[in-house]
Amino acid sequence: MIADYQARSQARVNAALESLFEAPSPELTRLYAAMRYSVMNGGKRVRPLLVYAACEALGTDAGQANGAACAVELIHAYSLVHDDLPAMDDDDLRRGQPTTHKAFDEACAILAGDGLQSLAFSALLNASLSPQNAETRLQMADALAFAAGPAGMVGGQAIDLGSVGLKLDQDALAFMHRHKTGALIEASVKLGALASGKADQSQLEALQTYARAIGLAFQVQDDILDVESDTATLGKRQGADIARDKPTYPALLGLDAAKAYALQLRDQALDALRPFDTAAEPLRALARFIVERRS
Ligand code: IPE
Ligand code: IPE
Ligand code: MG
Ligand code: MG
Ligand code: MG
Repeated sequence: MIADYQARSQARVNAALESLFEAPSPELTRLYAAMRYSVMNGGKRVRPLLVYAACEALGTDAGQANGAACAVELIHAYSLVHDDLPAMDDDDLRRGQPTTHKAFDEACAILAGDGLQSLAFSALLNASLSPQNAETRLQMADALAFAAGPAGMVGGQAIDLGSVGLKLDQDALAFMHRHKTGALIEASVKLGALASGKADQSQLEALQTYARAIGLAFQVQDDILDVESDTATLGKRQGADIARDKPTYPALLGLDAAKAYALQLRDQALDALRPFDTAAEPLRALARFIVERRS
């Protein structure tokens, strides 16, 4: 079921994304090619799927959420391009291909990331991709800016880079993960709910509880896969965290306890969805997928 849903939703967001990379003039061909390369190279599209699934959980067709789905994936892609740079994680493989700074060059990768970030807000505010009224679009833009920015993903990345070689306690590790990965996942669910045009306050709160749990679970599983998967399956270098002495859940708790924790977070997420009917099945399936995935 989730595989079909995933394939359909990936096709939907990929079609919308594809339309964004036409260079407006020949001088910009290389920059646009680098942006396109960074986005249209596979990727599970978990964040767009969460946008669509949250919108559908509230009884609205996912087509209403295309702008939000593109926007969260564009922010995510930009974060990966910068995350892989030599000054950050210095990785040369992403989604099974050379990282953007390897396929192009460093300056081009920095600018491609910058461009993707702006493009995310253009996609979100574009009325044909996001047909909501202007006030809802502004609320969505505000939520995305918060999640992507210094009190969200960028802040988490700063903490991550400042923590290399340190032994964080579990609260500090959760704080870092909630920022670097959790914030954009929370925003994905919130944007989908706002795009539905139907969310009431109690539904928004329940969805936020769900999103906080899977947001943390997502990075816990990412840390687990760095230990026990392999480079071909992951499409990125296995063991990179260990090699760089990054603080991770397996490093702090041990592999078995990290796995148990991911399952506990999944259950918290599923509990939060109790008030929702079968329209929330895709959200439930995504919570399971996030901790069961192998890449
Ligand atoms: C990887 O994210 C980076 C993290 C935030 C942990 P994904 O596992 O969603 O990567 P793609 O988009 O599928 O390549
Ligand atoms: C990255 O976390 C989170 C981002 C905000 C990009 P990681 O550094 O663990 O992601 P991977 O393992 O390189 O995909
Ligand atoms: Mg990193
Ligand atoms: Mg990395
Ligand atoms: Mg990782």
